[in-house]
Amino acid sequence: MEKAFRVNPWEVSGKVDYAKLISEFGISKLDEKTLNRIKKHTKELHPMLRRGVFFAHRDFNWLLDEYENGNKFFLYTGRAPSGKIHLGHLVPWIFTKWLQEKFDVDLYFQFPNEEKFLFNQNTTYEKVQEYLEDNMLDVAALGFKPGRTHFIIDTKHADLLYPEAVKVAKKITFSMVKASFGMNESSNIGAIFYTAMQAVPAFLPSVIKKKKIPCLIPHGVDQDPHFRLTRDILPKLGYYKPASIQNAFMPPLKGVEGKTSSSDETSAIFLHDSPKEVETKIKKYAFSGGRDTLEEHRKKGGNPDVDVSFQYLKFLFEEDDSKLAKIEKDYRSGKMLTSELKKIAIDKINAFLKEHQAKRAKITPKILERDWLWKV
Ligand code: TRP
Repeated sequence: MEKAFRVNPWEVSGKVDYAKLISEFGISKLDEKTLNRIKKHTKELHPMLRRGVFFAHRDFNWLLDEYENGNKFFLYTGRAPSGKIHLGHLVPWIFTKWLQEKFDVDLYFQFPNEEKFLFNQNTTYEKVQEYLEDNMLDVAALGFKPGRTHFIIDTKHADLLYPEAVKVAKKITFSMVKASFGMNESSNIGAIFYTAMQAVPAFLPSVIKKKKIPCLIPHGVDQDPHFRLTRDILPKLGYYKPASIQNAFMPPLKGVEGKTSSSDETSAIFLHDSPKEVETKIKKYAFSGGRDTLEEHRKKGGNPDVDVSFQYLKFLFEEDDSKLAKIEKDYRSGKMLTSELKKIAIDKINAFLKEHQAKRAKITPKILERDWLWKV
């Protein structure tokens, strides 16, 4: 029997069947034709496109039609502060950075600093705010284009967001929210309203520039219910439906199911981890596709499909397809041992984190305020 899985903005669990999600959500598989169209503009395809990490979209072909007619889009993505940033969070952001460079476009990055307060029973508003600046520093350090990247904080930019959010909210009934998010009579009314806040950055630049501008939202597929609703509403307000592109989840450190949770220190590798912590976490906790004994591993080979170290290389850390293919082949055949595979992952992750931490250390709250916070 098939095991149940769940994917929605508040929960990702079980072994996700992405083909099934495509039909359930009504998103389109990223096919050869669309990929080739993207390639025409970007020259090469990002590894996450070549490897199916980004696997589905809505209206990407329309977005390219507009782009080819000289109507540039803007990018929109986000992060609800709730804890420290871990490697799994980087998947859509690294891809967004690539899109920003290749298409030379603006990016609006929302930090809904009320979201996790509204949805998590066990946190306070004040606690969530402690992560806001921390999360912004990590995002800024990833190397988005300064001057073309605009951070939106829901409470700080409330004067801009709220008037538009109420216009969205007026078009959404409680029964629509129930159907989209599985809410019920006992859901708090802040949570019921929240999706209106996440809709706004998809058209706020159009409001401010007083012209319709296409929008592309790269995001983890769990966020799609928000944007499905957003797409229904925006034409009613006189704006384009946002296009979107969806990524699959990088497995959490300890196994292949669900997505990484930031509440458990040992469940993920965090951007602030030291080289030693990374080494320990990978060696001790990273789920292995290897066999129980050396003899058995040599004879039967390992399974890279469930091996977390291999998956981290595939999602983020080995951009070279031929190198990745060699690792995969050697691991599958038993020629490469789990300890060897883990060593490769540890070195790659630590090289990345060293650079990231150095970049982050150079950004002060003052720089955040001056260079990254959206100013209208
Ligand atoms: N809801 C997202 C989260 O839980 C945050 C978010 C806001 C977002 N706007 C977005 C994510 C746009 C992707 C795209 O982190």
